[in-house]
Amino acid sequence: MTKPAAAVADAGQIKKLHAARASLAMLRDDMILGIGTGSTVNAFIDLLGTDGWASRLRGAVSSSEGSSARLRALGTPILDLNEVPDLPLYIDGADEATRARVLIKGGGAALTREKIIAAAADRFVCIVDDSKLVETLGRFPLPVEVIPMARCYVARRLASLGGRPVWREGTTTDNGNHILDLHDLAIADPMALEAAINQITGVVTVGLFAARPADLLVIGASGGVEFI
Ligand code: A5P
Repeated sequence: MTKPAAAVADAGQIKKLHAARASLAMLRDDMILGIGTGSTVNAFIDLLGTDGWASRLRGAVSSSEGSSARLRALGTPILDLNEVPDLPLYIDGADEATRARVLIKGGGAALTREKIIAAAADRFVCIVDDSKLVETLGRFPLPVEVIPMARCYVARRLASLGGRPVWREGTTTDNGNHILDLHDLAIADPMALEAAINQITGVVTVGLFAARPADLLVIGASGGVEFI
């Protein structure tokens, strides 16, 4: 018998909550925290509110206007990364992850700010449910943020790498740019592909996190949490 859609959705949400709750243990009073974007992070932000952490943090550097609004509503000050001398911890989700902690991110279109915060953070903790874990990245279309005037040029260059770029029409990033999603490309060498896409003129960011992978992967499953 197949499970009703609502039950599957609830099970997924519970796994996200497991991962989000496990990462609360990494918080410290008066900490400045990097916070990402997405439904798993939203579960984490909600826990910051219910568990009293929202007011115990000195502030947060956030990867999107959406996450900033949620944090402000809980009373957590939003800080500009330029005003923050160091960032001990960044917590964010991912669209796909391998056991080597290499990620695809950007399904929520926040990849550029996410990459900047991950680069600046001492420790990047990625919280996912177990449906995100893959052997080979690429089942999830790889997001690439592009300068709008370069969109078609970049699409042609991406196609020459073997994938099928699709314009995420109607989406403008918080930086005013467009997103191309690269479909049908099994990513055998994430480090090489990240470098190759970064070299294309007009690319702002590729949502492949290989050169700067997560330091810790927290995987929520129905039975609990796995740490990699
Ligand atoms: C945002 O741009 C993404 O990188 C998110 O981290 C990613 O889409 C994960 O989102 P969910 O937690 O909603 O799956």
